[in-house]
Amino acid sequence: MPSAQTLFHTQEVTIAPLTPVVDRNFVDDVLTGLALPQKQLQAKYFYDQQGSDYFDQICQLPEYYPYQTELNLLPRVASDLADSFSSDCTIVEFGAGSLVKIKPLLSTISNIRQFIPIDISGIHLEMACQQLQTDYPKLAVKPVVADFCFPVDLPALDHQQKIGFFPGSTIGNFCPAQAARFLENARCTLGPDSCLLIGVDTKKSPSYLHRAYNDADGITARFNRNILTRINRELGANFNPENFEHYAFYNAGQGRIEMHLVSTEQQVVDVFGSAVAFAAGESIHTENSYKYTPDEFCQLAQSAGWQVERSWLAEQDLFATYLLRNRC
Ligand code: AVJ
Repeated sequence: MPSAQTLFHTQEVTIAPLTPVVDRNFVDDVLTGLALPQKQLQAKYFYDQQGSDYFDQICQLPEYYPYQTELNLLPRVASDLADSFSSDCTIVEFGAGSLVKIKPLLSTISNIRQFIPIDISGIHLEMACQQLQTDYPKLAVKPVVADFCFPVDLPALDHQQKIGFFPGSTIGNFCPAQAARFLENARCTLGPDSCLLIGVDTKKSPSYLHRAYNDADGITARFNRNILTRINRELGANFNPENFEHYAFYNAGQGRIEMHLVSTEQQVVDVFGSAVAFAAGESIHTENSYKYTPDEFCQLAQSAGWQVERSWLAEQDLFATYLLRNRC
């Protein structure tokens, strides 16, 4: 009979070392993006748990006006829509995050029976849903962890009217062609007779925009660099985030804020077995945040098969909310 110690030893050598589960899409997107002449990473990868936390901190910053401005606008939107949806309906929220912005709608619009929040950040969504369910015990809450850049399969739905909700100007992360594709996909996901309530940031003074993405406390810089920390952890890379500087500016020609991480020195980083070389001053483009005039956004929505039924502008035209109706 082998001793217990021998058994233990045998087990130790026969069990394969724990290999962390890597997300193949994440690997491919990162390696492809870092191989481009202008290196880039997709903004959706900001939102691991730490990134979602940083984003919540950004929303509390005085400089980051889109969050509070939209939140102040929503009670007015909700009361204008209080009786607009006659029978039982389902709200589907894209990029639901911490589930704060849905509350003015739930509290004011009668007939909302079901809520399907979609988010890429699973644990963050799960925790937010538990709290929401406590606050609204009669609401059917059915979270879906998914990447809404692709068409999303909704949990089996009855024949309730669907109202899409896409606040925060998250649509600004897409370039206009991708935004049109998202809007078309959303129309298919939500089905005939659906509406989409969407928040969109407006074009405004570059200095005002600049401040919002270059806060004095450096929270946005941490949010930006965290994508490297995430790649280190999940893809076994060896970025030193301190060797990259947060750089955000308004590109007026493109109508967008661009965020970059600029290499402070010449360096080579190992990413999932690939050597990625950076020249001093070379950047990784990490985010676009497009801003739309009301005319530009209405045209975009129409090109994707939506009719603009109503719109609300916040004080000083700082932010806009639109109610779109599926034309099909
Ligand atoms: C969540 C995409 C709307 O673009 O303003 C905030 C993300 N990036 N500060 C935005 C963000 C830097 C935000 N969105």
